Amino acid sequence: MNDNKQNSHAEVPEIVKNAVLVHSSPIPIETPIVKGYDWNKGIDYHALLETYKYSGFQASNFGLAVDQIQQMINARNIPLEDDEIDSLEEDEFIRRKSSCTIFLGYTSNMVSCGIRDTIRFLVQHKMIDCIVTTAGGIEEDLIKCLAPTYIGDFNLEGKSLRQRGINRIGNLLVPNDNYCLFEDWVMPILDTMLAEQQKRGTLWTPSKVITRLGREINNEDSIYYWAAKNNIPVFSPALTDGSLGDMMYFHSFKNPGLIIDIVSDLRRLNTVAMKAKKSGMIIVGGGVVKHHICNANLMRNGADYSVFINTASEFDGSDSGARPDEAISWGKIRMDAKPVKIYAEASLVFPLLVGETFARHYYSTREKTISDV
Ligand SMILES: NC(=O)c1ccc[n+]([C@@H]2O[C@H](COP(=O)([O-])OP(=O)(O)OC[C@H]3O[C@@H](n4cnc5c(N)ncnc54)[C@H](O)[C@@H]3O)[C@@H](O)[C@H]2O)c1
Repeated sequence: MNDNKQNSHAEVPEIVKNAVLVHSSPIPIETPIVKGYDWNKGIDYHALLETYKYSGFQASNFGLAVDQIQQMINARNIPLEDDEIDSLEEDEFIRRKSSCTIFLGYTSNMVSCGIRDTIRFLVQHKMIDCIVTTAGGIEEDLIKCLAPTYIGDFNLEGKSLRQRGINRIGNLLVPNDNYCLFEDWVMPILDTMLAEQQKRGTLWTPSKVITRLGREINNEDSIYYWAAKNNIPVFSPALTDGSLGDMMYFHSFKNPGLIIDIVSDLRRLNTVAMKAKKSGMIIVGGGVVKHHICNANLMRNGADYSVFINTASEFDGSDSGARPDEAISWGKIRMDAKPVKIYAEASLVFPLLVGETFARHYYSTREKTISDV
């Protein structure tokens, strides 16, 4: 048996041996070793998520994203020097508030789903400085204060839902009556805004409209209630592309004349980026929200820290799918930055990422404050 084995080995042609058994160069000593979580240690989700960085694939990207956000938080905690305090800025929404300005971008469906509550936590506790979202990302938050969104099923048939006046977003259901409630709520506000424009010369911009709606909703469940209260600007350059736009369209018949200026908002957003001492971008989803934040960061020669979470791929040349390295080529991310893209569906990943970073920091500093008392 042994002889046979030796004989067959001796017959392996040299060319094959050289190809298959090629020798490795030594791996640098500091290279991490792949290792997953040991469930014999019990069920400990924090310990599990800590192993992700060394697990490989998108789990490793999750671990690297935790590191990026931790660096944003650390930079943000460095107090501003006296000469960096932005006291001459009259617009308190765009005033430099910390040593690292964190931009948060998210697509509308993040607000339709439960991610809304994670975003609200970040805004409520002033953990981010500037938001960019799309129209649905505004109205879905306000509508949820008026009536709920329900869990449905991806497979519910469009025709039968339409016959029952129920709208579907993935596996979520929004009764059409919710939008009727929204109309009843928002129309008188649009009337007042128009009156202010005509009497006082108020120049409305999307971000100023959103702040006003946040104040009017006066509901602690709302992202924009907290954004208005905490002077966090929310930009939405395509604010008309949703139910809010439908309402503005109806309003243009009933009570025409409301003007919303997007250029003033562009100036406001780009000023936030230009003022940033360090800049971090956390962008959940793609499209306008992703590019608008990246483009603002071009004004400061690129962001210092970046985390993208989306499902898009780059093979089609889309901006949604573009990897952070493409943004480096445009000067939207710094050349020496270590940006991370997690290829993942955000409803699975974003709450975990916030849990491992912002929420952990929030609760650890609260515990410290309580124990110091
Ligand atoms: N609830 C809604 O989705 C809703 C409601 C009203 C209006 N709209 C309007 O539809 C238009 C398009 O929406 P949008 O620009 O917000 O984004 P979108 O829904 O078109 O998504 C843009 C890209 O983001 C990524 N993405 C989206 N969801 C993701 C997820 N769960 N996980 C990971 N990646 C994800 C994908 O790459 C996607 O192609 C906007 O003008 C918006 O106002 C949307």
